Amino acid sequence: MRVLSVASECVPLIKTGGLADVVGALPAALASQKIEMRVMIPAYKGILESLVGAEEVWADWNLYGEHARLMKGEVAGMTVLALDAPHLYHRAGGPYADASGDYWDNPERFAALSWAAAAVARDGTGEGWKPDILHAHDWQAGLAPAYLRYHGNGGVKSVLTVHNIAFQGVTGGDRLNSLRLPWHAWNPEHAEYHGNLSTLKVGLATADAITTVSPTYAEELMRPEFGMGLEGVIAARANDLTGILNGVDEATWSPENDPEISPYSARNLKPKAENRARLIEEFGLGDVPGPLAVVVSRLTWQKGIDLLADALPAFVAAGGGLVLLGSGEPHLETAMKAAAERWPERVGVRIGYDEALSHRMFAGGDAVLVPSRFEPCGLTQMYGLKYGTVPVVAATGGLNDTVIGASPASLSANAATGISFHPVDGIALAGALRQLLHLYQDRGTWTRLVKRAMKADVSWDGPAAAYHALYRSLLA
Ligand code: ADP
Ligand code: GLC
Repeated sequence: MRVLSVASECVPLIKTGGLADVVGALPAALASQKIEMRVMIPAYKGILESLVGAEEVWADWNLYGEHARLMKGEVAGMTVLALDAPHLYHRAGGPYADASGDYWDNPERFAALSWAAAAVARDGTGEGWKPDILHAHDWQAGLAPAYLRYHGNGGVKSVLTVHNIAFQGVTGGDRLNSLRLPWHAWNPEHAEYHGNLSTLKVGLATADAITTVSPTYAEELMRPEFGMGLEGVIAARANDLTGILNGVDEATWSPENDPEISPYSARNLKPKAENRARLIEEFGLGDVPGPLAVVVSRLTWQKGIDLLADALPAFVAAGGGLVLLGSGEPHLETAMKAAAERWPERVGVRIGYDEALSHRMFAGGDAVLVPSRFEPCGLTQMYGLKYGTVPVVAATGGLNDTVIGASPASLSANAATGISFHPVDGIALAGALRQLLHLYQDRGTWTRLVKRAMKADVSWDGPAAAYHALYRSLLA
C-alpha cells in the first residue's frame, strides 16, 4: 500500500511542534505494516540542501503564481517530496510567520502544497509513483481532500488528521476563487464558516475519513468547549472519525540509548540521579530537597502555563524545584522569568528552543508537568513515561489516554504511571503538586511508580496497526 502524507512540518527537516515529530515518525512506523509512505512538505529555505539524491519528479508552470517543482530525496531513511516554489516558501522567517507576524499569503502558500499533493495523488509523479491514500495533516493540508473531491480523485482515498483544532486556516471568503475552490463549495456544509472560509472545515467536510490524535480528543471535539466552533462539523461526521494515539520515536527517545545523557533503564536507575545533579548544576540551582519538575513546552494559554505560575509558590516553599524550557506569549515568558528571579535556588527558566537540552531535562527531572487546558495528544508526557520522569497531567485529550493517575487503588494495583488532575484549574493543579510532593517522599512507592511509568507502552506499534486498519477499510 502507498500513502502520500502531506504536512507543513516534518522532523528532522522543519519543526515548530509535535506535528513535525509525528509526521517524521509515521513513515518508519508504517513501514512495519508494509506501507510505503512518502512525505510531502514545502521546500522552505535550506530544505533542498538537506535532501540526499534530490531529483525532480513533477512540475507545474503556474502553481499559485509561478513555476514550481517537486523534488524527491531521502532524509533519515524516509522519502521526502519537497515542493520547491521559491515565490511561496523562500522567506527569511519561520514556516508561518516572521517578526512582523503571519505571512499575508499563508492561505495561498498552503493551498499550493495541497494542490500539488492532490495532483500527485490523482495522476502520480513523473516516475510513476501513485498513492492509494492521501493523508493530510491539519489546516495547512486541509484543501488537499477538497481538491480531490471537487476536481476528481483518480481513485485515491483521503484521510485528514486533526492535530489541533485551535488552528483552523480561517481567511476571507473573498479568497474562494484564488484558493481554487469551486463556487458550490461556498456553503455552510463545506468551506463557508461564519462568513469566512476555513481550510480545515472544508477538509473535514470532504475527506473520506477523519482522524485525531487520541480517543479522548475525538470525543471532546464534538463538544463546544473543545470543538472551537467546528464541533457540529465534526459531530456530523462522527461515523468517519477515529482517535489514534501518537507514539514516541524510540530511536530518538530512549534513556538506555541517548547520547545527551548518562544512560539508564528501569533496572539501573542510578545514572538518573547523576542526570538530575547535572541538570540542577546546568540551571545553576541550589539544593532541591523535593521533586525536580521539568516543563518543555510552548508557553501558551493552551498549555496552562499561567496556572503553573500561580501554583508555584506553594510547591517551591514545600521543597520542590522547577526547570522550564520554552517560548511563546510574552506575558508568560515574563511570569516564568520572574519566578526564576524570585527563587534562583529552586527555579530555572530558559526562554528558547533547544532539542538537546530537552533530552537532558527529561532525563534529569523527577516529574514532567503538563497542565494543558486541552491537549489533542501531547508528546512530552510520553517522553516522561519513557524516561521515568513521572508525568503530572491534566486529565484531558491524549494526556487522559496515556497516563494512569495515582490513586490508592491504582497504586496498590501497581497500575499508576503518573499523576492526573481535573478540572484544569489552579486549585486542582496545586492539589496535584501536593500529591507529587507527598509521593516523592515515600521512596518505595515513588520508585515503583517510576518503574511502572517506564513500562508503559508508548511505542508506535499500536498506532501504526490502527492507521493500517483505517487505510484498509477505506480501500475495501
Ligand atoms: P504541541 O505540538 O502542541 O506543541 P506536543 O507535546 O505534541 O505539543 O509536542 C511538542 C514538541 O515540541 C515535543 O517534541 C517537545 O519536546 C518539543 N518542544 C516544545 N518546546 C520546546 C523547546 N522550547 N525546546 C525543545 N523542544 C521543545
Ligand atoms: C498538536 C497538539 C499536540 C499533539 C501534536 C502532534 O500540536 O497540540 O497535542 O501531540 O499536535 O499530534
